[in-house]
Amino acid sequence: MRERGAMMYLKIDHIGIAVHSLEDAVRVYSSALGFEVAHIEEVSGQKTRVAMLPVGDCRLELLEATDPESPVAKFIAKRGEGMHHICFQVQDIRQEIERLKAAGVRMIDECPRPGAGGCQVAFVHPGSACGVLVELSQP
Ligand code: CO
Repeated sequence: MRERGAMMYLKIDHIGIAVHSLEDAVRVYSSALGFEVAHIEEVSGQKTRVAMLPVGDCRLELLEATDPESPVAKFIAKRGEGMHHICFQVQDIRQEIERLKAAGVRMIDECPRPGAGGCQVAFVHPGSACGVLVELSQP
């Protein structure tokens, strides 16, 4: 099982952090904490604006809601700023979604949708991952 898992999940792609203000968060993470900002983009499908900060071959993804209906806005309203999700890179996202569904895993997205950086992404419901919101991403 461990070997299969290692092959299905290629690496941790990024860790998502929900923030009130992207400007403030970028300032804290770059000036104070010393990370570099690779790029900032709007992900309209998810009603967020994101900043990507590389850490080795992984990244931090700072997420700001662009709409009160954004999942990130709802998350912050409920729990405040903080760790929002962990994203794993997969080779074939459609195949992984089917595999997870067959295993009884609850998916937020049953079809891939456009994420940051032109990736195809799908979210696994936290109820099926011990309280962690998991994102799958195919470059
Ligand atoms: Co993400």
